[in-house]
Amino acid sequence: MFKRKKITIVGAGNVGATAAHWAATKRLGDIVLVDLSEGIPQGKALDLLQAGPVDGFDVKITGTNSYEPTKDSDIVVITAGSPRKPGMSRDDLLEINAKIVKTVTTEVVKYSPNAILIVVSNPLDAMVHVAAEVSRFPKNRVFGMAGVLDSARYKTFLAEALKCSVRDISAFVLGGHGDTMVPVPGYSTMAGIPISQLLDQKTIDAIVDRTRKGGAEIVNLLKTGSAYYAPSASVIEMVEAIIYDQKRILPCCVKLEGEYGINGLYVGVPVCLGEGGVERVIEVELSQDEKNALEKSSSAVSELMEAVARFL
Ligand code: LAC
Repeated sequence: MFKRKKITIVGAGNVGATAAHWAATKRLGDIVLVDLSEGIPQGKALDLLQAGPVDGFDVKITGTNSYEPTKDSDIVVITAGSPRKPGMSRDDLLEINAKIVKTVTTEVVKYSPNAILIVVSNPLDAMVHVAAEVSRFPKNRVFGMAGVLDSARYKTFLAEALKCSVRDISAFVLGGHGDTMVPVPGYSTMAGIPISQLLDQKTIDAIVDRTRKGGAEIVNLLKTGSAYYAPSASVIEMVEAIIYDQKRILPCCVKLEGEYGINGLYVGVPVCLGEGGVERVIEVELSQDEKNALEKSSSAVSELMEAVARFL
């Protein structure tokens, strides 16, 4: 018998609530929105539920301050944590968010020991490490969303420069979700045509740079917080790939064990996402420059992991 999937979203802030919105409009499953603030998850869930008759979705949406209603979730998205303010780097959030992600993961795992965990909280790569350590889940069931977002920004800027639809851009970003992330022009195409044949190096370099600073660009505009439409759409693309066992090839933050010459770190690389979560890591050949950039990015992740270890 068909059983509707259950998706828990922890954190009813901008990213969590907007993720719930995308998940509902895509009718991905029943949604539980959890947050500590009394009334906020309940209010947002009820408001979203009441959009159902208008938009035509009929999934259940529950808001709660406790974890009991999350019992037996298939997928848990962790967005809880403090967002960035102007002038803050993602790394500045390390201590406060490590404690939050640790508590959240402990609670989530108690009620949903077989769930797939997708972490969105920043600094992303370190928070995935925290969730993995606390949950003890196998690496296919605990990973992070950043690559889809960073790649979406990169694709947006490429499409703008190429004056084409974003749908015709194929491109991805490797590495940590920080200033050293690695957009990969060598594998970026417009309908299969390498961008190196279509754009000059200076334009490509400027797009790579803007992509790296894409999160900060939005923080500086919003002033009171960080981006949420693209981050939430990105995590829901991953949720959808898992729920429908789509075998999508998406860049995600996963534990590497030798792939790309990296061992024991959570780093963004292309993976195959299906009902088992991360079903395999896709390794691609990189130029020497790209290898160096990935090494630099993974050493930044390694420093964060060392820094976060004292909160575990
Ligand atoms: C960003 C934050 C959410 O990249 O990390 O927008």
